[in-house]
Amino acid sequence: MKIFHAGILFFYLFTSANVAMAESRWFNSDQVNRGEILFQQNCAVCHGLNAEAKPGWEQASGEKSAPPLNGSAHAWHHSMGQLSQTIRQGNIQIGGSMPAFKGKLSEQDIKQVIAFFQSKWPDDVYQQWAGENHVVAGKSVSTIEQDVTQLLKLRLGSNDIASATETEIKGVYQTQFGDKYAYLIEGGRYVFIGDLIDLKQARNITEVSRRSDVKKALAEIPPSDLVIYPARGQERTVLNIFTDTSCAYCQKLHSEIGHLQSAGISVHYFPFPRGSSRGPGYKSLKSVWCAKDGMKAMDIAKGVAEGNLPSGNCERSNLVDRGFELGRKIGITGTPALFSANGTKFNGYVPYNELIPMLLNEL
Ligand code: HEC
Repeated sequence: MKIFHAGILFFYLFTSANVAMAESRWFNSDQVNRGEILFQQNCAVCHGLNAEAKPGWEQASGEKSAPPLNGSAHAWHHSMGQLSQTIRQGNIQIGGSMPAFKGKLSEQDIKQVIAFFQSKWPDDVYQQWAGENHVVAGKSVSTIEQDVTQLLKLRLGSNDIASATETEIKGVYQTQFGDKYAYLIEGGRYVFIGDLIDLKQARNITEVSRRSDVKKALAEIPPSDLVIYPARGQERTVLNIFTDTSCAYCQKLHSEIGHLQSAGISVHYFPFPRGSSRGPGYKSLKSVWCAKDGMKAMDIAKGVAEGNLPSGNCERSNLVDRGFELGRKIGITGTPALFSANGTKFNGYVPYNELIPMLLNEL
């Protein structure tokens, strides 16, 4: 069942099966013990040795107002992500007195410190927090990230989902499937699918990832497994094209690649038979990839040269399937699909007189 649309926000619910494990907590005694030492070194001056706060904290201001973290005050209303965020960033910038511990405490330290003060929470408080925040007993927070990935797999009906990694924005995790990127917020309770943009720097953070992932994916296939039309003279850049011999716009683009070569652009062809093995170009792509002279066979298959195609029965013909898989992985649905050397995608056919300046301006 697909319930996703671009930009959708949804929250996920754990099944009642997890309630049965409700007795225990996400952390173990090891984490609590290490957290206790860190807490005493870094937090106890203000929050009290057992996270019970200093007497009079409610009337005090500034540092003396540090609240209890033992479950008797407000702290348990915060999600795991919010608690870590407060400890990392503090709130001095927004007028509070809680110092930032980023740089002093690692992410692991922060989790252990939280484990320590949460070990002071009475069961009913912990259970309510765990329920509201979908924290599963006996699981560390990093396995919760895996759960989120699992859930995405289920909802998307796909297994091809990258595991979540934290972005430059604290507490926001990025994951990827096909050519789509998703952002997990609040420890994975919410997911947002779309592009993340840094307005201040006018930078599309998602596009940066997308390009570098595409570059990595394209590099999986060595040049010897491609059909390459080299630049004439010195090579200035490379254009990667996923092509199908039977597609009209692939043929049109192909008839113009001499202009690209003359402009110092090498064309690297990847095979992408639309419709896979049932597609109209599948057989002739295999012939092209089996041919001794790949360029000549490509010219013949695309109707710009005369001649006969060799048989498509050879070991290299597997490369056609490989190209199709790779294309699917990076989200290609039609041909031609063009990728510049830095991974920028151009959708469909672009006339050479527009394409050349776009590629060279990128340098
Ligand atoms: C210099 C004193 C000081 C130290 C040291 C300190 N805190 Fe705080 N903390 C505060 C104050 C004061 C607040 C209340 C927020 C405000 O000032 O707005 C606070 C708030 C918090 C909150 C939010 C509580 C809530 O109910 O919203 C958390 C969580 C927290 N501190 C955790 C820690 C941890 C963990 C450490 C040690 C790693 C630590 N603090 C060290 C002073 C301190």
